[in-house]
Amino acid sequence: MPGRPRSPAQHESTAAEPLDELYEALAGILNEEESTRCYKNYLLPTGECVTLSESMAIISGGTTGLVTWDAALRLAEWAMENSAVFGDRTVLELGSGIGFTGIAICKTCSPKAYVFSDCHPHVLKQLTENIRLNGFVPEPEPAHRIPAEPRGRDAEAASCPKPKLMVAALDWGSVTEERLLDLQPDVVVAADVVYDPEIILALIGLLQKLSPLGADRKPPEVYVASTIRNPDTYRLFQAELAKVGIGWQIIPAPSSSIFLYDVQPNVTILQLDLPNTT
Ligand SMILES: C[S@@+](CC[C@H](N)C(=O)[O-])C[C@H]1O[C@@H](n2cnc3c(N)ncnc32)[C@H](O)[C@@H]1O
Repeated sequence: MPGRPRSPAQHESTAAEPLDELYEALAGILNEEESTRCYKNYLLPTGECVTLSESMAIISGGTTGLVTWDAALRLAEWAMENSAVFGDRTVLELGSGIGFTGIAICKTCSPKAYVFSDCHPHVLKQLTENIRLNGFVPEPEPAHRIPAEPRGRDAEAASCPKPKLMVAALDWGSVTEERLLDLQPDVVVAADVVYDPEIILALIGLLQKLSPLGADRKPPEVYVASTIRNPDTYRLFQAELAKVGIGWQIIPAPSSSIFLYDVQPNVTILQLDLPNTT
């Protein structure tokens, strides 16, 4: 009798096909909650893709970091047109979210090392999954790394020309100068991190700690891409930069749009001029 539930033991005793179990499994799948995640493929000009597992809600798990924002797409477009900025250099990304900009840069601009960072545990987990999804294997941070035998490291570098990728749990409000010194960034990038007056001061505090990164080093180059939703918030960011002596200039927009946007976004990329304390 197909419609009548039977126990597995009954099936075994009759040697009947387990149709009822199949019906139950199907009913279970149909009743499952609608998934809140999706996979997106972003086609790069090289023909490669960036594949990301993203949230379908703009804010989920109490964070804005589980989706890709327009500023991240714009920053990646600009990076691809200016790959020399990143080639063979160590890049630190602030507020990486789920990783679009960094993964696109790693696939197209040949950085020496790329440090993704964020403060939110769900975001860091999703970010790490997405990095792996794109064929990269994140390494431990420099301070936590167990030194390898020199010969092993040479052999590894020779056989693995990919950039070294790291994921750092880094909160702008509490990061120390020592931690930033360990990371040794030549270039710092961030997309859509100027959206809330409350976090702007923490971000500026971090930028100040980047200036004296070592007696014999220039401060890193810093590029911040922002969607200007509320001009007051953006002006506050610029005013706070001025207060601590950080200059800025607007970088010309990328000449072509590579990724699809619903509406052309109001994104501006600033290059920040950190004071040289040496
Ligand atoms: C609007 S999302 C942008 C994500 C990604 N850059 C993009 O454009 O798609 C802002 C990101 O900044 C991170 N963030 C906010 N405050 C932070 C803080 N104090 N320290 C580190 N990351 C922070 C959030 O967790 C989130 O991932």
